[in-house]
Amino acid sequence: MSKKRILTGDRPTGRLHLGHYVGSLRNRVRLQDEYECFFIIADLHTLTTRPERTGELKENIRQQVLDYLSVGIDPAKSTIYVQSMIPENEELAVIFSNLVTVPRLERMPTLKDVMRDSKIEIPSLGLLMYPVLQSADILMPRAHLVPVGKDQASHIEVTREIAREFNRVYSEILPVPEALIPDDIGTLPGTDGKGKMSKSVGNVINLSDDSATVRKQVMGMYTDPNRVHGDEPGDIDNNPVFMYLDAFCGGQDEGRLEDYRSRYLTGTVKDSEVKEFLVEVLEKFLEPIRKKRAEFEVQPELIDKILREGTAKARDEAQKTLDAVKSAMKINYF
Ligand code: TRP
Repeated sequence: MSKKRILTGDRPTGRLHLGHYVGSLRNRVRLQDEYECFFIIADLHTLTTRPERTGELKENIRQQVLDYLSVGIDPAKSTIYVQSMIPENEELAVIFSNLVTVPRLERMPTLKDVMRDSKIEIPSLGLLMYPVLQSADILMPRAHLVPVGKDQASHIEVTREIAREFNRVYSEILPVPEALIPDDIGTLPGTDGKGKMSKSVGNVINLSDDSATVRKQVMGMYTDPNRVHGDEPGDIDNNPVFMYLDAFCGGQDEGRLEDYRSRYLTGTVKDSEVKEFLVEVLEKFLEPIRKKRAEFEVQPELIDKILREGTAKARDEAQKTLDAVKSAMKINYF
């Protein structure tokens, strides 16, 4: 029995951060052995909000591969590739665009969010098409499972609708993929405690940040806004510092975390002490990641090779799927 397939990925807009790690990257690392994994670097998706910033894509793609490798995504097991190098993907998107309506796409919650955040008043056709292109990404390798953050759930839903509609209209050749969405602890709030981490808001800690930056971000973090002094009882449930500790505290520090929790609840520990503990925990987590990144950073030819080989492999799959799609549609004329 061949392994089931996973497809997921990211837009190359900059460095990946702890939110990406908790929401998706760590899942990918875990799933690499059990599944055949495809990780797409979705450069075409960046055009939907920043068509003028293509000059930075090349470097962003390189940094993204470094982020992947440094957390343990292994190119010997998984296929890492660049979306725009797979023209079949775009052909599939054109075909799929006929299986979904404009109002369906206009109602996407993510469209409204992006328009608000990027101050876009009227969406381009490309922005409206975003979920259709993403559907093509997912259906291209005929993925069964799509590990993503909660914010992407609606896109996977559209993908499922498109796959079902394709199968209904033509023939049953596309697996209807499932989203794999981590539970609550899978959404890490920003360091300001407001919403998720977002580079434009500046409330992030990147996987590639150095120790000084990590310390600065942690020391500036929000805690319990109602607690003014360290001798007052505080809330740990909606407290970003404790949410980060829950996410990153390894087994050997669990006992210490429990102690900080109870002291926070009874008002016998200062915010700054808990933050010092978080700095320590994050350093322990990030140090091996930084080390691995540094090893790969000095081998740019290796990064090129990983992308070239991954892209060739993905393209093989894309051609197979496009052939199957076209023959199901009876548009394989000669
Ligand atoms: N839309 C995803 C995001 O912004 C990135 C992405 C593009 C993706 N294509 C994908 C994710 C396919 C999963 C599957 O995070």
